Formats: sequence, structure tokens, C-alpha cells
Amino acid sequence: MEHNRRFLTDRVRMEVDWRLTDQNRGVAPPPLEKPVPEGARQIKLPGPESMQAVSDISLREAIARRESRRLFTDQPLNLSELSFLLWATQGVRRTAGPFAVYRTVPSAGCRHSFETYLAVLNVEGLTPGLYRYLPLQHQLVLLREDKNLGPTLVNATLGQPFCGSGAVTFVWTTVPYRMEWRYHRAAHRVIPIDAGHVGQNLYLACEAIGAGTTTVAAYDQDAMDQLLGVDGDDEFTLYLAPVGKVAS
Ligand SMILES: Cc1cc2nc3c(=O)[nH]c(=O)nc-3n(C[C@H](O)[C@H](O)[C@H](O)COP(=O)(O)O)c2cc1C
Repeated sequence: MEHNRRFLTDRVRMEVDWRLTDQNRGVAPPPLEKPVPEGARQIKLPGPESMQAVSDISLREAIARRESRRLFTDQPLNLSELSFLLWATQGVRRTAGPFAVYRTVPSAGCRHSFETYLAVLNVEGLTPGLYRYLPLQHQLVLLREDKNLGPTLVNATLGQPFCGSGAVTFVWTTVPYRMEWRYHRAAHRVIPIDAGHVGQNLYLACEAIGAGTTTVAAYDQDAMDQLLGVDGDDEFTLYLAPVGKVAS
């Protein structure tokens, strides 16, 4: 218990030998996003112009209405709405050279260690299956078609039924080396702090499109990593959030 409490403090910063970080040793920075698997289908997402039409409530209203929603209707999400949610949670707003991009969410040292996977169940124009967001291109890549993701998600979230009953479930992994390259052992404290911002932007963006979400940190680590096809060490699940339309 004591060890875990200490982990939450920033004492680690004083303990790191900063000369030994990979960045300070001159090691090249890791790529900003995972590569596209060879031959995989990429799907262009509607651009920012169409997203403006999506969000028409005030920020004050979105903040006031935000709540965890677990009851979804059968209505699908359309591609503009999905595009808006992806932009709000991980979208790129400015490039700062080949090894850093500023996004719509903050990140310690602008290291952005997350990848966004989408378990698509009911989105207009997308075959149900597992996709990954490519923030640099604002595109999706189809990883595999799968019509049975709903029950698999419920199983991998320890039986939480709403995790497999929305239109799409966002699953965020971390690639910790992106953060460790600069912060060494101090990386792991800031990664979950980064995740909070992503979750809150998703909550607020959902309110703007008549959708709802609940962020989820309780899941079977191995089952979720297996569902995504990640190795559980260099990349693993950190947080997830089912999204669906809600009754008004
Ligand atoms: C880090 C974190 C983890 C959470 N994990 C779960 C979860 O596994 N299952 C769930 O039903 N809700 C989960 N929630 C949602 C909380 O239960 C919810 O935020 C809380 O009850 C307050 O309700 P509100 O969001 O409507 O204000 C989580 C929320 C956060 C911030």
C-alpha cells in the first residue's frame, strides 16, 4: 500500500538520473503513432468542417450535463460524429516537427503515449470490427472484421454489460516507451494523468452529439490486450469507454 501511495507522488523525479534518459543519451525518438499493417484498409474520416455542424451546444451546457451514461439506444453513430469524438480525444491540432504533434488534449512533455482502438458495433458506413485511429492522417485503419465484438467486450470487462452495447467502444492503450524516452522511471506517473484528459474530452464531446459514455478502468488486462492484439508489455490497455446514442 505504502509503495503505491508513494507512486502517486512526484518524488521519482528527484531520483531519476536525467543524464541516462534515452533522449539525453541521443537515442532517436520513437514514432508518433504505430505503423499501418501492410495491406490494411484505411478509411478517411470527415474533416473539421463537418465536425463543426456536429457540436452545437455551449461548453457550459456540455459541462453541466456531463454524466456517466450506461443506457444506450440502438441508433447508430454516423461517421461525422465518430470523427468528432476522435478529434476531440486525440486529434492533432498542430505539428511541431517530425517527432512531436500538439493534440486536442494535453500530454506531459507532449509525448502522447496513447493509441486509440475502436471496437465498432454500429457505426454507419463501417463494417463491425476492430479499427485503430491514425491521428496524424485523421483516418482509421481496419484491423479485422468481427461481428461478435459485443460479447467479447463484455467478457473482457468482467461482465459489465454496457461495455458491449453501445455503437462503438473506445479502447486506449499506452506505448510507455514514448514517455520513458524522455522521463525514464518518472514516465509512469504521468501516463494515467494524461488519460484523464482524454476521458473528459470524450464525455464532453458526447454531450454535444446526443451520445453518452462511461469511462472504464475495470477490465481483464490479458483478455483486453488479446482482443486488441497488443503484447501487454510494450503496449497495453489503460482505459476504455463505450459510446452510444442516448434517449433525449
Ligand atoms: C478512472 C475511472 C474509472 C471508472 N471505471 C468504471 C468502471 O469500470 N465501471 C463503471 O461502471 N464506471 C466506471 N467509472 C465511472 C464512475 O463510476 C463515475 O464517474 C462515478 O460513479 C461518478 O458518476 P458521474 O460520472 O456520472 O459523475 C469510472 C470512472 C473513472 C473516472
